[in-house]
Amino acid sequence: MNKKIAIIGGGNLGTAIAEGLLKSKFCKASDITITKRKIVTLENLKNMGVNVTSNNAEAVHKSELVILAVKPYQVSDVLNSFKKELTTKHILVSVVTGVLISEIGEIVKMKLPLFRAMPNTAIAIQESMTCFSFTNASTAHINVVKNLFSTLGEVVTIDEKLMEAATVLGACGTAFAMRYIRANIQGGIEIGFDAATASLIAAQTVKGAAELLLQKGSHPEQEIDKVTTPKGCTIAGLNEMEHQGFSSSLIKGIAVSYNKIAKS
Ligand SMILES: NC(=O)c1ccc[n+]([C@@H]2O[C@H](COP(=O)([O-])OP(=O)(O)OC[C@H]3O[C@@H](n4cnc5c(N)ncnc54)[C@H](OP(=O)(O)O)[C@@H]3O)[C@@H](O)[C@H]2O)c1
Repeated sequence: MNKKIAIIGGGNLGTAIAEGLLKSKFCKASDITITKRKIVTLENLKNMGVNVTSNNAEAVHKSELVILAVKPYQVSDVLNSFKKELTTKHILVSVVTGVLISEIGEIVKMKLPLFRAMPNTAIAIQESMTCFSFTNASTAHINVVKNLFSTLGEVVTIDEKLMEAATVLGACGTAFAMRYIRANIQGGIEIGFDAATASLIAAQTVKGAAELLLQKGSHPEQEIDKVTTPKGCTIAGLNEMEHQGFSSSLIKGIAVSYNKIAKS
């Protein structure tokens, strides 16, 4: 991409985005500027050729695509630190949880393409699920943002009113999946594996199961049918899990997470 990118807030997510863009060769290191107040932690990116500064206004001035990756309570101060540099050539993408596009619009007080994106922590290995919404954006603007997040995993456009649901399913979902895998490891150890072998088997099996759905576009139940022999051990284990409330507990957990986020 030929646009210069400013990442405002070089924390966990901001640095993961910068690293992912470099690894995927989406743009040159010299086309990225990343900011934070204490820049010592950005030494690694600086050594790779990324511009590092604590001057948000300067970073935005030199760029066309601005990614805002600070904590929600910092949004107002940080936007005010650079909004005078925003022009109609800019695209502004916020990855800040819980801050509406309209709230950002009220602070910047100008009409420019505004995007809100919800990635997850797998963005660090270019395997994020990123949901995004936008306003004032042309097809060209949308394609720029879509291309950017496509280099960091899968992307889907959603209505902003689904952003809380996207946070639960896509971002909290990483933690839910980790617990499922951890439980498999615990079970694996109980039936004879050492922890390292159980971890490998559990993680790769879940990865393979997910890839089956993603690559073949099949429904989970179709893939389950292939593994469940009549009177066999898989169906016996699965049914016992369901008797203990397996699917129900996951659905209830997702609903509780959603109610919590929607009320706050
Ligand atoms: N982590 C995820 O996977 C994830 C997923 C989806 C959404 N999000 C959202 O993304 C945002 C960032 O999350 P995070 O986990 O990356 O948080 P984080 O690690 O705390 O990063 C925020 C960064 O902002 C910097 N910062 C604070 N004030 C600044 C200022 N005035 N100018 C420039 N930089 C400033 C901080 O560095 P200094 O203190 O040195 O300035 C810090 O490194 C949050 O709103 C979060 O909800 C995160």
